[in-house]
Amino acid sequence: MLHENLGINEKGRLTFAGADAVLLAEKYGTPLMLLDEERIRRNIRRYKEALLECFGEGSFPLFASKALCFKGIYRLAKEEGIGMDAVSVGELYTAKAAGFDLSKAYFHGNNKTDADIAYAVENGVGAFVVDNADELLALEKYLASADKKQDILLRITPGIDPHTHKAIVTGSVDSKFGSAIETGQAEEITRLALSLPHIVLKGFHCHVGSQIFDIEPFTEAADIMLRFIAYVAAETGYTAEVLNLGGGLGVKYVEGQPELDYAAVIRDMAAVIKLRASAIGCALPHILLEPGRSLVADAGVTLYTVGSVKTIKGYKSYVSVDGGMPDNPRYALYEAPYTVLLASKAAEKADFICSVVGRCCESGDILQENVDIPKPVRGDILAVLCTGAYNYAMASNYNRIPRPAVVWVKEGADRLAIRRESFEDMTRLEV
Ligand code: LLP
Repeated sequence: MLHENLGINEKGRLTFAGADAVLLAEKYGTPLMLLDEERIRRNIRRYKEALLECFGEGSFPLFASKALCFKGIYRLAKEEGIGMDAVSVGELYTAKAAGFDLSKAYFHGNNKTDADIAYAVENGVGAFVVDNADELLALEKYLASADKKQDILLRITPGIDPHTHKAIVTGSVDSKFGSAIETGQAEEITRLALSLPHIVLKGFHCHVGSQIFDIEPFTEAADIMLRFIAYVAAETGYTAEVLNLGGGLGVKYVEGQPELDYAAVIRDMAAVIKLRASAIGCALPHILLEPGRSLVADAGVTLYTVGSVKTIKGYKSYVSVDGGMPDNPRYALYEAPYTVLLASKAAEKADFICSVVGRCCESGDILQENVDIPKPVRGDILAVLCTGAYNYAMASNYNRIPRPAVVWVKEGADRLAIRRESFEDMTRLEV
């Protein structure tokens, strides 16, 4: 099985976090997203403990909540004592509504509006991750009028190509995010931040990309950022306290991809970072990481009911399910690979090659192509594995399809996390 929270029971059905997936599909209906609570806690603890062990107090993970945003996940993050990375006021609002302390929130985004700035300052956001000079000046203006000070990090682009899908590369010089070291704009914005009376510069941030399995892009980015910190210290006398290296560690979606041990990766990163910091004579700042995918992806499974099974003679076969790109647009967007199983016949021989498609009026509404599963019939339950990250968070109502329900599963017991969207929910804003 792809991950250790998956299994097959005596009825030949898929189990997830100790529960029979088919029974959950019957109980809650489909499409249904299951979330393994203990897996998320385990993933969080691995990051938290490794960062503390390697870098000491003040170094901790922030959950990149763009990967999965709803109140329950912030309650869990609060219980686990980690911070959060928000990219919008909507995420901040949801966290606050869940009782999450926003002083542990880092507020990202390359285009914060004046209203966003006011909301975040007034609600006590721990730090802004400031993207550009326009934002910095708008923030200073607001702080001056409110007579407040605000901690910030500056988002810097180190100029790294991590060799992942181009849509999720973010640290290259020509990226829309941050200020590049190479062009001198990182230095400029640092000097500007240091000159503004209501801005408290705590350090720097970078993020190279997502779904990365190699450690080199991270150590390379850390090296470049440490050199930048040392350069800034020499030029201005300012020493950064915090270096946030973003998120991006990869997750095993299919056989053949590695299953990273995040604690071991952090230890390896720490060894290189410490060596390089001492080589360039730079005091080690507190290190923050912003994992999203690697905290929640492998804690999610999506269940669907098979509708039609169609073989186009001499061509290919399609299995249509009751979800699709509205609940998981990642194949349509990135041709993202997923493991697909027939949950109701998980022990049977897989010998039916097909494309698993949704029910939108769009040929690109594909969950996965060239899947090998036992031949399903109408009513079978199909599972797409590793859907905890960037699935529910990116879900839409395209073709007026309601969003699925989300259910927590913990050691075989289930409880509703997000109720299924209704038709009334979808029309409630319409006057
Ligand atoms: N920090 C920053 C500033 C980010 O931009 C991101 C992701 C993260 C942290 C978290 O990265 P992670 O650990 O999840 O890789 N929708 C795409 C992924 C977009 C990621 C954007 N930024 C997907 O479905 O693959």
